[in-house]
Amino acid sequence: MLLKLSKNAFVRQYGDFTYVVERVKCYDQMFKDAEVFMRWITREPMEKSKILQNIFNVYSDTDEKEIARDFDEFICPLIEEKVILSGETIEELESSEISFSYEVENPKTMDTYYIKPEEMPEGPIPQDLLDKYFAKHPTIFDLQMDITQACTERCIHCYIPEYNPVFLPFVQIKKVIDEFRKQGGICLSLSGGECMMHPDFDEIVRYARLKDLIVSVLSNLTLCTDEKIKVLQEAEATVQVSLYSMNPTTHDAITKRPGSWILTKTAIEKLRVAQIPCRISCPTMKPNYKDYLDVLAYARSLKMDAQTDFIIMGKMDCDTSNLKCRLDLKETRHILEDIVFKSLPINNEYFDPAKKADMRSDSEWSEEHVCGACVSSVCLDADGHYYPCPAFGGVNLGSCYEHDLNWIWNESPETLRIRAVRGKDFPKCVHCKDRDYCSVCMCRNYNETGDMFKPAEHFCKVAAINHEVVDEYHNKLMSDKSRT
Ligand SMILES: C[S@@+](CC[C@H](N)C(=O)[O-])C[C@H]1O[C@@H](n2cnc3c(N)ncnc32)[C@H](O)[C@@H]1O
Ligand code: SF4
Ligand code: SF4
Repeated sequence: MLLKLSKNAFVRQYGDFTYVVERVKCYDQMFKDAEVFMRWITREPMEKSKILQNIFNVYSDTDEKEIARDFDEFICPLIEEKVILSGETIEELESSEISFSYEVENPKTMDTYYIKPEEMPEGPIPQDLLDKYFAKHPTIFDLQMDITQACTERCIHCYIPEYNPVFLPFVQIKKVIDEFRKQGGICLSLSGGECMMHPDFDEIVRYARLKDLIVSVLSNLTLCTDEKIKVLQEAEATVQVSLYSMNPTTHDAITKRPGSWILTKTAIEKLRVAQIPCRISCPTMKPNYKDYLDVLAYARSLKMDAQTDFIIMGKMDCDTSNLKCRLDLKETRHILEDIVFKSLPINNEYFDPAKKADMRSDSEWSEEHVCGACVSSVCLDADGHYYPCPAFGGVNLGSCYEHDLNWIWNESPETLRIRAVRGKDFPKCVHCKDRDYCSVCMCRNYNETGDMFKPAEHFCKVAAINHEVVDEYHNKLMSDKSRT
C-alpha cells in the first residue's frame, strides 16, 4: 500500500510536538512524539512497508509488531480526515485528493466564529496547545508581507499613511520566504496596500506555494483578472477581501474610488466559480453603519465566510484623522447587541459570549503575553522593515536588507522588547473589570495615544458596553432556562 501527504495538508515539527493541519476540512491537531511516524509521509508517495522499515530502524530495540500496531492506530484517523492518502497506485492516490468546494458545507468554516459553550469540543483545542507552546518557545508561525505600499483605493479609514509606489523586490521576497520556511513558518499572508499591484505578484504566490506554505491574500480584488484567479487557484491560496456595503455608492464613498464596488463584487463571484476559499471582511463605520447585515446575507448566499469589525484603529504614524468615520458609542452598542444576541460573526474573539466561561485571574493574566506579536507572528513592510503586527508600524524590528529572519526573531533588541511585554505592563488593564471583554492591543494603543501601554478611552468605553451586553445576554439565557 502507498501512503502520501495530501496536497492540502501541512506538517511542522515544534519541539516534541508535530502540528498537522488540513486546509479543506479545516482539520488541525497537535501530536506528541509523532515526528518519526510522520517523517516519511511526504507529498512523494512511499510504500507503507518501506515507511515501517524506516521506523523499525529508528526504534531498533522495540517489538516490530507493536510499532506496526501503533503506527496503524496513528495513521487511521489521519487517513479518514484525508490528511494522509492511501492507495494501491499513484493514480488511486491522486484521485483521492479532495479540493475545496462551496457546494460542500463545512461546519467549521461556515458562519461559526461563535462556538456556543455547549458545542465546544472536549479536551485541549490544538490552537490553545500551540499558543502555550509558542509562549514558552517563540516560533514564527505567521508572516504577513506587505509587498507594496501602493493601492488602487484611498479608503477613509485606512491605517496606511502613505501610498508610495514602493515594491519589495522579488529577490528579497524569495530570501525572506526561504528564511521563514527554515524557521518553521507555515502561514504567509500577502497584503499591502494592494498586493496585486506588485509586478511579480504571480511569481510570489507560486514561489510561496512551492515552498510548502499556506498562502493567503488580503486584497480589495480591484485588479483580480482571470489570470490572477488561475494563479490563486493553482497555488490553492485563500483570499480575504474587503466589501463595505451592497450599495455601490456607499462602498465607493468609503474607498474613494468610483467603480470599485462592481470590480470587487465581480471578482468575489469569479473566485467562487473558481472554488477559491474567500472570506469577506466588512469593517463597519459611520457611512456603512448597518450595511454589514446585507453584506453578511450576500456572503451567506454565496456560502462564503464573512465577518464584521468595528475596531477602527488610528494610522500607523499616530495620525488619528481617519477615526472621524468610527462608530460612536451608541452605534457600537447597537452592533454589539446584533453580534451577541444574533451570534453574528466578528473578527474578535473577545466579543464572543462563549469566552465568558474562560476568564483568567488578574495574576495569571499579568504574567501572560497579550497577543502573538513577536511570539508566533511578525510582519514585513514594502521598505523591508520587519514590524510586530499588522498596522503596528511604530516599532521597527530591523531590515531584511541587513539581517536574516533568524536574527530578527532571535536577536533583534526590538523583537525581544516586544516579546517581553506581559499583561502587567498595562497598568490600567491589570485589575480592569472589563478586561475579558476587551482586546488589549499594543498597536491600537500606540496608533491612537502614542504609547503602546496606554489604552485609548474609546476602546475602554467599548469594552464596558460589551461587558454589559454580554451580561444582558447571559441573564436572558438564565431566565429563558428557568422558564422552561
Ligand atoms: C490594510 S488592508 C490591506 C488589504 C487590502 N488593500 C484591503 O483593503 O483588503 C487590510 C484590512 O485592513 C482594514 N483596515 C484598514 N484600515 C483600518 C483601520 N484603521 N482599522 C481597522 N481596519 C482597517 C481594511 O478594511 C482591510 O480589510
Ligand atoms: S484599506 Fe486596503 S484598499 Fe483601502 S486604502 Fe487601505 S490598503 Fe487600500
Ligand atoms: S477596558 Fe481599557 S483598561 Fe480595561 S482592559 Fe480594556 S484597554 Fe485595559
